[in-house]
Amino acid sequence: MTRPKIIAGNWKMNLDHIEGAALARAVRDRLSGPARPCEVVLIPPFTSLEAVAGAIEGSPLRIGAQDLWYEPSGAFTGEISASMLAALGCRYVLIGHSERRHVIGEDGTLLSRKLRAALAGGLFPIYCVGELLEDREAGNADGVVERQLREGLGGLEPGDAGRVVIAYEPVWAIGTGRNATPEDAGAMHQAIRRLLADLFGEPAAGAAVILYGGSVKPDNARDLLSREGIDGALVGGASLDPGSFAAIVSAL
Ligand code: 13P
Repeated sequence: MTRPKIIAGNWKMNLDHIEGAALARAVRDRLSGPARPCEVVLIPPFTSLEAVAGAIEGSPLRIGAQDLWYEPSGAFTGEISASMLAALGCRYVLIGHSERRHVIGEDGTLLSRKLRAALAGGLFPIYCVGELLEDREAGNADGVVERQLREGLGGLEPGDAGRVVIAYEPVWAIGTGRNATPEDAGAMHQAIRRLLADLFGEPAAGAAVILYGGSVKPDNARDLLSREGIDGALVGGASLDPGSFAAIVSAL
């Protein structure tokens, strides 16, 4: 089954809007030339979205946001709605990144609301799942990821579920320089696809785009991305360097 491929750069809380626009221009320049067989997505902080959108205008690059709030508008000081993101040209939004789950403390109920709000707002959610090191060492990585998937996606119509991109990011691999082996990542991607088949049927599972994230770098990207079932990458640190990010895109 041919699925769309995505390489997304999650800039996290880095770069102001001027620095962000410069990075976006540098990425755009490095990726100009023949069309790529994948969608390349830049995910800057909210404050840089407009500047980055301007910098990539006219190119095939896309933008996404790192989070949203689940209500459409109202008294939610500090929050940002799906429609505000869509109005800026966002196509994707991260939901449930491990830093939101484990540093900020977001739980399954909240994430499921955010995911539904993203879908209702016409965005493509990138729903992040992944186990802690202690879960993996206890042999419970599959169980944790299954729970996170059921919490986020349970009850969705197959058509809506088909618009959700999954990102498997083992927490112990994020920002540590220690990536999952292609074998372990590939096995988890298979487990995720099996669960999606149980929840939404084989066609939806076969079409689901599942990314790997966690210390993806130019030197390990090809091994990870050539694995059957890994449909792209969610890149953190290496997405802040245009050369490294472009090299990861080229590894696909
Ligand atoms: P690193 O690539 O820096 O490990 O970060 C991964 C990540 O959290 C992407 O969302």
